[in-house]
Amino acid sequence: MQAVRLYRYGGPEVLVFEEHVPDPPMNGDAVMIETVAASVNPIDWKVRSGARQKDFPLLLPAILGRDVSGVVSAVGGNVRHVKPGDRVLAMGDATYAEKVVIGGSLVTHAPDGLDLADAAAIPLISLTGDQLVRHATAVTKGQTLVVSGAIGSVGRAAVHTALKLGVRVIAAVRARQVDAARQLNVPEVLAIDDDAAIAGLPPLDAVADTVGGEAAVKLLAKVKPGGSFGFASVLPAGAADAHPSVKVTRVFARPDPSKVREFADDVRDGKFALPIGHRLPLRDAAHAHVLGERGGVGKIILLVRPAGG
Ligand SMILES: NC(=O)c1ccc[n+]([C@@H]2O[C@H](COP(=O)([O-])OP(=O)(O)OC[C@H]3O[C@@H](n4cnc5c(N)ncnc54)[C@H](OP(=O)(O)O)[C@@H]3O)[C@@H](O)[C@H]2O)c1
Repeated sequence: MQAVRLYRYGGPEVLVFEEHVPDPPMNGDAVMIETVAASVNPIDWKVRSGARQKDFPLLLPAILGRDVSGVVSAVGGNVRHVKPGDRVLAMGDATYAEKVVIGGSLVTHAPDGLDLADAAAIPLISLTGDQLVRHATAVTKGQTLVVSGAIGSVGRAAVHTALKLGVRVIAAVRARQVDAARQLNVPEVLAIDDDAAIAGLPPLDAVADTVGGEAAVKLLAKVKPGGSFGFASVLPAGAADAHPSVKVTRVFARPDPSKVREFADDVRDGKFALPIGHRLPLRDAAHAHVLGERGGVGKIILLVRPAGG
């Protein structure tokens, strides 16, 4: 099969498009998906560079990619709810490839009417944003939650979940992103780079942070005692220890196919906007990483084969 592999850690150039990579092995609990598209996530370039070797060591040569959309080509003997020919969507591994094998219980059907290629943008960011709000912050109806990086992909998913829960959302974004953030239909938008605006925040019930670094530390300081701070990225060392009265929790996205389907339905129905910045062929994965690492682009889709082709 065609796939993009890396043989060593490094810059985008270590991603090599290959025509003859062995198919992934099947088993009785798995499905094989003929990939229509994968999407690019920040974790892909963090793993590629070697920056996350400790948490995500690779067995080289390796195939990156956490999201897949496509058509089922084979099912293991124990799989009942999908069959060959079904259009599916999943969070998985090694998805920069023509064929992806994944546990049958982890895939969900793509809703009719949803573009299958763009649907590859949905799984990882939706699960992360949703679990960041529901589990890491555990915020409840009527409470006040700041979502940082709110117009990023995980940030949008976090805002979407929080609004569904009836939470009062404050979207925190770069100053130049404030106008875009107003489109999120949240009651309040603030610029993270504006120290006076941060200082003027009321004591917060919770923060759902997707940006990490010093911006996250400034927001952590605004959480009230007993409040919660959930984060998806990396906090500076010691940041959590400085606020012992705040429950600080890192999210690691876990599979939840029914939640992926819920977000997919909301995208199809126009209730959840997930902008696609670029659609590139799989062989251009290295360029996709260059674009992604520059930031500010929205989701990047790697097209593997035409939907329905
Ligand atoms: N733990 C998990 O399971 C998990 C899963 C998925 C993602 N993540 C992590 O979550 C983070 C967000 O992922 P994503 O897919 O949402 O990325 P994304 O779509 O690029 O969104 C990130 C957003 O944050 C903004 N941003 C970055 N640094 C900022 C700062 N210092 N101040 C204000 N805004 C800032 C970005 O603006 P610009 O584009 O202008 O930089 C962008 O709008 C990444 O670190 C990713 O690795 C974790």
